[in-house]
Amino acid sequence: MAYFNNSNRRNHDSHSLAFFFFLLVLVLCFRVGEGRAPFACDPKNGFTRTLKFCRTNVPIHARVQDLIGRLTLQEKIRLIVNNAIAVPRLGIQGYEWWSEALHGVSNVGPGTKFGGAFPGATAFPQVITTAASFNESLWQEVGRVVSDEARAMYNGGMAGLTFWSPNVNIFRDPRWGRGQETPGEDPVLAGKYAARYVQGLQGDGAGNRLKVAACCKHYTAYDLDNWNGIDRFHFNAKVSKQDLADTYDVPFKACVVEGKVASVMCSYNQVNGKPTCADPDLLRNTIRGQWGLNGYIVSDCDSVGVMYDDQHYTRTPEEAAADTIKAGLDLDCGPFLAIHTESAIRNGLLTENDVNLALANLITVQMRLGMYNGEPSAQPYGNLGPKDVCTPAHQQLALEAARQGIVLLQNKGNALPLSPARHRTVAVIGPNSDVTVTMIGNYAGVACGYTTPLQGIARYVKTIRQVGCGDVGCRSNQLFGAAEVAARQADATVLVVGLDQSIEAEFRDRVGLLLPGLQQELVSRVARAARGPVVLVIMSGGPVDVSFAKNDPKISAILWAGYPGQAGGTAIADVLFGTINPGGKLPMTWYPQEYLAKVPMTNMDLRANPARGYPGRTYRFYKGPVVFPFGYGLSYSRFTHSLAEAPKQVSVSLASLQAMTNTSTITSNAVKMSHINCNALQLGLHVDVKNEGTMDGTHTLLVFSTPPAGKWSATKQLVSFHKIHLPAGSKQRVKVDVHVCKHLSVVDKFGIRRIPMGEHEIHIGDNLKHSFSLQVPEQIKF
Ligand SMILES: *[C@@H]1O[C@H](CO)[C@@H](O)[C@H](O)[C@H]1NC(C)=O
Ligand SMILES: *[C@@H]1O[C@H](CO)[C@@H](O)[C@H](O)[C@H]1NC(C)=O
Repeated sequence: MAYFNNSNRRNHDSHSLAFFFFLLVLVLCFRVGEGRAPFACDPKNGFTRTLKFCRTNVPIHARVQDLIGRLTLQEKIRLIVNNAIAVPRLGIQGYEWWSEALHGVSNVGPGTKFGGAFPGATAFPQVITTAASFNESLWQEVGRVVSDEARAMYNGGMAGLTFWSPNVNIFRDPRWGRGQETPGEDPVLAGKYAARYVQGLQGDGAGNRLKVAACCKHYTAYDLDNWNGIDRFHFNAKVSKQDLADTYDVPFKACVVEGKVASVMCSYNQVNGKPTCADPDLLRNTIRGQWGLNGYIVSDCDSVGVMYDDQHYTRTPEEAAADTIKAGLDLDCGPFLAIHTESAIRNGLLTENDVNLALANLITVQMRLGMYNGEPSAQPYGNLGPKDVCTPAHQQLALEAARQGIVLLQNKGNALPLSPARHRTVAVIGPNSDVTVTMIGNYAGVACGYTTPLQGIARYVKTIRQVGCGDVGCRSNQLFGAAEVAARQADATVLVVGLDQSIEAEFRDRVGLLLPGLQQELVSRVARAARGPVVLVIMSGGPVDVSFAKNDPKISAILWAGYPGQAGGTAIADVLFGTINPGGKLPMTWYPQEYLAKVPMTNMDLRANPARGYPGRTYRFYKGPVVFPFGYGLSYSRFTHSLAEAPKQVSVSLASLQAMTNTSTITSNAVKMSHINCNALQLGLHVDVKNEGTMDGTHTLLVFSTPPAGKWSATKQLVSFHKIHLPAGSKQRVKVDVHVCKHLSVVDKFGIRRIPMGEHEIHIGDNLKHSFSLQVPEQIKF
């Protein structure tokens, strides 16, 4: 025993000595300027400084080829995985590709750590909440701030420069645990969000440079994690060409084409029997070929391994390596390609040149990030450091995003806003009433700090707090009595209920849409006991069926706060007391619980199939009862719309004479988009919006279109949205941006975009409708 004790002590001592030196190195690093040594091409290294790939006056493609020419096959293969090796003989350090920044710099990936000079970063609301603002400039601004903080952390040696965000999969099924990470169910909304957030992250793009490299994920038709015994590693999503082209692919296309994203991630699932990461049609032909990705394609983490180990898609691991690289995959998140690529080449399944092509895409992105330009501190963004993280301005933007994203769902008898003069004591009740990390959802980091709902409300009035249930699971009604007493004593009652990551998360899809456990009973009992008005605040990513509350005469108002981020409590209180006039709109349909019984989560069809009792999905195709519809959201003001100017007829011209005579151009009264002269084909639509209320407010104009009656089954599609600020009593004319090709086209069964000729209808709000006819020139006959 004594021997062991001694040895342990010796061991321990030598450890602490090593730890001391480690600390010394750490301290020295932080003392020297911004901390990080150059990734490559250190100006102090006389040898590498002279190499062509280090010379910044040489075009990037030539630098990339020069570097690839110097690498051995074994080195190359160890560079196409997230944990890329160092190549010391060329002065290149190791690099961890995996960092995340979904709504703030996150430490979910191994590339980013908090601590030291960077204890936290601004934690913005979860994406579903920010999406509800329908404010494009906000999305870009959030991206800009997140990338300032990300660059600062890179400069300080705490983060990478390649961030695998945003998640732009369509929120197809309300049960999906990751729906919270997405901008919602509508492809146009998701596409705009993707493009703007990516532009914010990646910077101005001057000279092709990147501030950080964003990544749109998970391509494609991935929106099932773990439901009814089926998980994402084994799921084969059966998707029609029509749904793929007019729904699932739309945000990814916008991300690549408009956002110019530097990366796309393929998903775990199969699409129509093929793993997405091994499908050349999806990767090489669509993302790179048709959309022109300037960047790299990365697998989801271990998804190459999954296709071999779990899906048994290939006979050998070498085939899996070869299939993915040949399909267009450039980087493996995971070790699989590092292990099996060399033997795949030896077996003749792949060539070294295939690996070179992948590597070129990766190194090009690193060069655009400036990683081969020497000292990080001497480069654009090199001045960003700890002083640029969690700044008052950044934290103010997190508050602003939460304020803009909160949705007012019900306000009977104008119970809200509460008045601190009349409601001097407010009971604050419920499992989410004093939460912190719940407010930032998943793929978050360490926040700068939090204001909980209770703290936010306490800034306005005296509060009496009762938790009601210990957690959102709410298994016991033991604390209900005390909550009832609190509500009875107070002038108003605010219940903050809902979900958290124990209910909806990655690899955790929900089984139902109701409030979990006994929460519903808590709400009803407290409402019955309450003396003053009762307000229900729901914190959740996915929709919750709160029909019981909607129909309860004792519950006056309902707010949806999503996961509102680090400043969520302030934003909620600001809305409750009228400092802020709410203007958020739901980015997804709130279905009733009964909906689930008719819709297996595995059915990918968007369109309804009445013959089979399948009701369809999302507001575009589902016409059944809802709790609250897509786009719903009230204000303390009332806004009205009237048409100021609109065409009755729009003519499209065909791109060529040949197209006019080609019978395949026009079928079923719809012209192939590829044959139309799309340039500047805008609808000149102007709408007057008036704030009829007594409070200044923001209003989002949601513009929907309905194509001519026919076999095009989308009966309603969002084509445009505009957010405006209107002082009380004022009126503003809005030019609505509707592009004929982009917005009025439909997709046929073969996945081909066509523009239906005939009467189209535009609708805005509940009662503004306008029809106009789209026509091709006279000489064309159908
Ligand atoms: C008509 O269009 C189709 C599809 O775009 C094309 O393949 C075909 O060659 C065209 N035919 C003529 C006669 O131009
Ligand atoms: C959109 O967000 C930006 C950034 O927060 C803000 O300045 C602007 O006022 C918002 N637009 C409207 C109409 O509220």
